[in-house]
Amino acid sequence: MARILITSAIPYINGIKHLGNLVGSQLPADLYARYCRARGDEVMFICATDEHGTPAELAAKKAGKPVAEFCAEMHEVQAKIGAGFGLSFDHFGRSSSPQNQVLTQHFAGKLADAGLIEEVSESQVYSNADGRFLPDRYIEGTCPNCGYENARGDQCENCTKQLDPTDLINPRSAISGSTDLEVRETKHLYLRQSALKDQLDEWIDSKTDWPVLTTSIAKKWLHDGDGLQDRGITRDLDWGVPVKKGTEDWPGMEGKVFYVWFDAPIEYIAATKEWADKTGGDWERWWRTDKGADDVRYVQFMGKDNVPFHTLSFPATIMGSGEPWKLVDYIKSFNYLNYDGGQFSTSQGRGIFQDQALEILPADYWRWWLLSHAPENSDSEFTWENFQAGVNKDLADVLGNFVSRVTKFCRSKFSEAVPEGGAFGEAENALIADLTTKIRAYETHISAMEIRKAASELRGIWVAGNEYLQAEAPWSTFKTDPDKAAGQIRLALNLIRLYAVLSAPFIPEAAAKMLSSMNTLDTSWPDDVEAAVNALPAGHAFTVPEVLFAKITDEQREDWAARFAGTRD
Ligand code: MF3
Ligand code: ZN
Repeated sequence: MARILITSAIPYINGIKHLGNLVGSQLPADLYARYCRARGDEVMFICATDEHGTPAELAAKKAGKPVAEFCAEMHEVQAKIGAGFGLSFDHFGRSSSPQNQVLTQHFAGKLADAGLIEEVSESQVYSNADGRFLPDRYIEGTCPNCGYENARGDQCENCTKQLDPTDLINPRSAISGSTDLEVRETKHLYLRQSALKDQLDEWIDSKTDWPVLTTSIAKKWLHDGDGLQDRGITRDLDWGVPVKKGTEDWPGMEGKVFYVWFDAPIEYIAATKEWADKTGGDWERWWRTDKGADDVRYVQFMGKDNVPFHTLSFPATIMGSGEPWKLVDYIKSFNYLNYDGGQFSTSQGRGIFQDQALEILPADYWRWWLLSHAPENSDSEFTWENFQAGVNKDLADVLGNFVSRVTKFCRSKFSEAVPEGGAFGEAENALIADLTTKIRAYETHISAMEIRKAASELRGIWVAGNEYLQAEAPWSTFKTDPDKAAGQIRLALNLIRLYAVLSAPFIPEAAAKMLSSMNTLDTSWPDDVEAAVNALPAGHAFTVPEVLFAKITDEQREDWAARFAGTRD
């Protein structure tokens, strides 16, 4: 039995996420967690909300709520949506937890002791009306290059020119609109990542089995331009982890907080401690190599925009601490999912948000389509036509139809119990051999986190059962040789249980329905396919289930396409 630590990138708190966020981290992480558990591994699956930073402050302001209250509410909303999609986290934590505060300050202290923190003085724009320093993108004004009046302090959206806030003509605060701005001196802490460059480079080089998407991004940041840059890890904000050196005050850093990207990945560890504090479990055996974590395999899931922080900054924090913390063993990263010819956009309300998705269809429809179209080798695209086709064909015509045909036929010709029938013959043995090959391939793909390949192998496993039924046609056999037909149906009923076990990581709700209609708690993995198709003996009672998957109609498709085309209402 292996021990597997799985983390999904932790979603920002500032709003409900769209489907692209789901398929880029949480959903494939859940698939993998469910698979590992089904194979008997001991799994710790961690996620959380990412609650600090300016976007959280501004979202709270917009909602007219104190930021702590806003975060607490949004955390519950996101937790509920995650549960709705069947995400099987062992713990869904909060980066604003006391546990994360202690750990973040601890890491900063260790990094300072190791000489890896530098204090830098810089000048930054301060808004008197807002009573705060403004991050570059929260300063707006006229672009000196093209005259666009709503250019941001980091870049002009109109002509794409990179800007400094001081380049803007008539600058104003994007928060209040105030023009009462001044440039002030402020001190910040920098993590000296450049000092760890060789160590990081060597470590990345040792990861020869990582996806190219992951290593190429890491390499680019290590080597392009001037190479790996030191990184500011503090901000002049109210909301965040107060800057401290371990448990001690940090002179000159009063009133400042750590940058959200410094404390967010530490929350992976802290969330495990939150879990331990709640359950009495042992978090250190997952995270401290001196406390047993050296035989843990740690896998992270994330979108490609998160890769630099996970391949460089977070490892720099871990390595630089000089303490025996667990480093990641494998990083699975994803490209983007686009929506109907463009991008999903949270700000423009374009595409489907997670709560809306669950309002219109059960989780398994989304899980299956999203996972079988995971943006692994390139960006992928959601279109309503493609979604309708995938769901109707794979789930309704192939899997759902198989289950319904077999159970109904048995009920009408025999009874609602597995019939005895004749022994398996040539066709059955051929099917068992074919399924054995396919199941071993399925295991290989899913272990390698090749999500699309795993989905297509699973589809092939469902198809094999349908083809067997089609070729053997028990409904015709029954007329001349009812005993043979009974044997065929005994096999087919056992395939329903087998399919439930194999499919559960992708479509857990449907799998549970299949198992309950087969009236069995036997979820053992089919290491031996021949034994697996004999698991339900003759005489074992079952019930015909409700329709597993309803087809998506053309009207529904058109209706949804119109509803999700524009701004969210
Ligand atoms: N909140 C970030 C995002 O949604 C991800 C943070 S992942 C962690 O892009 F490493 F910081 F935890
Ligand atoms: Zn411009």
